[in-house]
Amino acid sequence: MTVSSRRASDGHPHTLVLPVRMDGTPASAIERAVELLREGRLVAFPTETVYGLGADATNATAVEGIFAAKGRPHNDPLIVHLPGADRLATVARDVPEAAWALAERFWPGPLTLILPRATAIPAIVAAGGETVGVRVPSHPVARLLLAEAAVPVAAPSANRFMHTSPTTASHVLADLDGRIDCVLDAGPCAVGVESTVLDLLADPPHVLRPGGVTLEALRAVLPDVRGPAPRVPGLEPGEAPPRAPGQMARHYAPRTRLVVFDAQGDAALAAMRREAELARASGARVGMLLADDEAEAMEGTGTVVARLGPSGDLAAVTRRLYAALRELDGHGLDLLLAHTYGHEGMGLAIWDRLRRAASGQLRSLPGQ
Ligand code: TXA
Ligand code: MG
Repeated sequence: MTVSSRRASDGHPHTLVLPVRMDGTPASAIERAVELLREGRLVAFPTETVYGLGADATNATAVEGIFAAKGRPHNDPLIVHLPGADRLATVARDVPEAAWALAERFWPGPLTLILPRATAIPAIVAAGGETVGVRVPSHPVARLLLAEAAVPVAAPSANRFMHTSPTTASHVLADLDGRIDCVLDAGPCAVGVESTVLDLLADPPHVLRPGGVTLEALRAVLPDVRGPAPRVPGLEPGEAPPRAPGQMARHYAPRTRLVVFDAQGDAALAAMRREAELARASGARVGMLLADDEAEAMEGTGTVVARLGPSGDLAAVTRRLYAALRELDGHGLDLLLAHTYGHEGMGLAIWDRLRRAASGQLRSLPGQ
C-alpha cells in the first residue's frame, strides 16, 4: 500500500487527530484507533516515554508501512508493545528467568527486553534477526489501546528517520502529517526520552540504549548488567557497523549544528558563554539548552535560550529535552550549545541523547 493510497482510502487529506484524555475518554477515540490498527493502518499513540508509530506486529504489510512512513531503513528492528507480561509467550520464546524478574519489577514501564523471537512475529519487525525487542508501556492510553487491539503492536518512535523523537502529538504531525492514518493526542509524554533497551541474550546482559529505567535500578535486580558503550558505535574510521542502526551516532539530531560540553556547573556555563561569544563575533546566531536556574547566567549574551526545568530535577530536564531541541531547531539559528547533567540516574540517558544529537562528539573540560 502506498502512502498516497492510504491517504485517499481513509478519506483524510491529513492525518486524523483523535484527542483523548488520560482516562481513555472519549472511548470512541480509542475504538477508532483500534479499528484502524486491525485494518493494517498506521496509528501514532502516546506512551510514557515518547509517541510511538504503531501497526499490527503480526501483519508484515502493515509493518512495511511504518518503514515507508518514517523513511527508516529495513535493517533497524522495531519494538513490539504488549498490554501485559502475561502475553510475552505470544511474541518471544525461551524467555529467561531474568526477563520475568525484570518484567515483575519494571513493567508496565520504560524498559525494552531483547529476547528470542517467536514465529508469530514476522521477520520484518526484527530486521530479519532471530531476536525481538518487547515492552509493556505504562501510559494509560497505550494500555487501553493495546488491550483492545488484542494484537501485539510494533512501534518505533513516531518521527522521520534520524529526527528527534516526538513527545507531543504536534511533534508527530510536524514529521508525519499526511503520511500516517491517525494520531491519538493525549498531551505531552511524562518521561520524555525512549525506553531503556536491555539485551538479555548477551552475557552479562547489556544496555544497548540507556532510557527511562536507570542502570542503577536495573542493577538492583540484575547486579552484573553492563552499561552502554562509552563511544557511539559507527564513528571510528574502519569500524564495523553497529548491530542495530538505532545505536548509531546521528540519531536524535536537530538540523542545526549542536555542540555539547560534557560538564556541569560554572565550568560548563563559562565554556558555553565563551563559545557563544566567539560564534557571535563571526556573525552567527546562537541558541542554548539550559536549566531554569542557569538561564540568568547567559543574560546579555544575545543567545536564544530554551529552558529545561530546575537543574536539580533530572526528570524535568529529561521530559523537556526533545521539545527544547525542536524548539531551538525551529528558530533557524547557526549554532546550538548544551551541556550534560552527569552520568548517573537519568543523567546517563540525557548524556546519551545529547552525544547522539551532537554526532557522537562531546567536548570535555579539564577537571570535569
Ligand atoms: O520508548 C520507546 O522505546 C519508544 C516507544 C514508542 O515505545 N520506541 C522506540 O522505538 O524508541 P525506536 O524504534 O525508535 O527505537 C528502538 C530501538 C532502536 O535503537 C532499535 O535498534 C532497538 O531499539 N531494537 C529494537 N529491536 C531490537 C532487537 N531485536 N535487537 C537489538 N536492538 C533492537
Ligand atoms: Mg526512534
